[in-house]
Amino acid sequence: METLVVDHPLVAHKLTTLRNKDTDSSTFRRLADELVTLLAYEATRGVRVAPVDIVTPVAPTQGVRLTDPQPLIVPILRAGLGMLDGMIRLLPTAEVGFLGMVRNEETLEATTYAERLPADLSGRQCYVVDPMLATGGTLAAAIDFLVKRGADDITAVVLLAAPEGVAALEKELEGVDAPVRVVTAAMDEKLNEKGYIVPGLGDAGDRLYGVA
Ligand code: URA
Repeated sequence: METLVVDHPLVAHKLTTLRNKDTDSSTFRRLADELVTLLAYEATRGVRVAPVDIVTPVAPTQGVRLTDPQPLIVPILRAGLGMLDGMIRLLPTAEVGFLGMVRNEETLEATTYAERLPADLSGRQCYVVDPMLATGGTLAAAIDFLVKRGADDITAVVLLAAPEGVAALEKELEGVDAPVRVVTAAMDEKLNEKGYIVPGLGDAGDRLYGVA
């Protein structure tokens, strides 16, 4: 598994405001969206394209076009929804599948409560979006789901990651026969005893959508 921490002053600037506990939810949503767009630019560096012939107003030339099957974006409900628009902005022809996963706050284990994905993901590049890579349980379960459906290239785009989560994900993915990449705005210090990322930004779903 490859982990990329996007090192860019605009990413660091937006992330700082996102972390601030005094940032209100409308600003949080807007900044999360902007941050995802910046991360998506790096995350899609390996998106598959094929040559195409076109004619400019001046001369024929060759360019590239995204190949079929189009990439699949998979937001993990609920908090991943806040990252969907930022991904679609850069990948407007992508399809979108949904995975509903919830983490048991005591055992920290992830269970799937909803799924709307194509039955066959062979040959698909998949972009899983979830703001927080904390224990890694949710992402590991989501990636396992996609690999079982045939996905052969998976990129997870997260706003923040914890070293424990990355290590756990690496362990879970040993033996998985598909390249997996994680793209994040920052690698934080650690997890606390409740499984929250420190310093983190709190509960991403609550900050995006309010407490429910
Ligand atoms: N989920 C969150 O929303 N925040 C954390 O810090 C960890 C998991």
